[in-house]
Amino acid sequence: MYLVLLGPPGAGKGTQAQVVSKELNLVHVSSGDIFRENLKNMTELGKVAQGYMERGELVPDEVTIAMIRDRLSRPDCAQGALLDGFPRTPAQAEELDRMLAELGDRVVLVPYISVPSQILVERLSGRWTCRAQGHIYHQMYNPPKQAGVCDLDGSELYQREDDKPETVKRRIEVYLEQTSPLIEYYRGKGLLVELDGTQPIEDVTETLLVEIRKVM
Ligand code: AP5
Repeated sequence: MYLVLLGPPGAGKGTQAQVVSKELNLVHVSSGDIFRENLKNMTELGKVAQGYMERGELVPDEVTIAMIRDRLSRPDCAQGALLDGFPRTPAQAEELDRMLAELGDRVVLVPYISVPSQILVERLSGRWTCRAQGHIYHQMYNPPKQAGVCDLDGSELYQREDDKPETVKRRIEVYLEQTSPLIEYYRGKGLLVELDGTQPIEDVTETLLVEIRKVM
């Protein structure tokens, strides 16, 4: 079962994917996390992605598609995956359809977490992420028990470089220009379900689980 979580930067895709993947025993594939891991380890892929990520631009399609193709070909994705941050352009979406068709599979649902742009800046400027495993917090909406420390694994929390206001502004523009056409792409295929991402985190999770269970 392949699901695509769609939504602007800061909508809550990562937050929801971490909870839902555990609850439903689905593999969580986050393109942003894979790029950040490569950046941390200074791999060739990380070096290619670095400049784009720092500017809030998308990494070129051919690089991103090759990376996801490799990730989805691993045995843990054989039964499906919850995709977070991919696809992000029409070319990526079409390629995903081809990739899954080769495996005799397809995307079954696209939950679109909708949040107005003015809320996103506040969400991202208050975000803290765990160094070890990427667990996500917010200083107001989902604070850790102890400031600067992950509740789940005790590692240090940090603020992402690309969460600076000027980079966030560019990321939102890029989302509107290059990713938002996917809303109509998936609506046209009858796969889109829109969720109100301004609701509290637990309420969004509940609605998301209901929608996913309908297609399981
Ligand atoms: P990526 O890491 O995918 O970033 P993004 O899509 O911009 O999404 P975010 O991780 O910023 O937000 P999110 O929706 O996951 O929100 P979160 O749950 O953290 O990509 C980073 C970069 O990598 C890109 O800019 C690009 O360069 C590159 N890249 C990645 N994929 C690519 C692709 N396919 N093609 C090309 N390039 C690619 O929540 C945000 C905050 O809000 C948190 O603090 C959270 O606690 C809080 N929060 C969440 N939900 C709620 C709620 N309901 N109420 C209140 N607060 C909430």
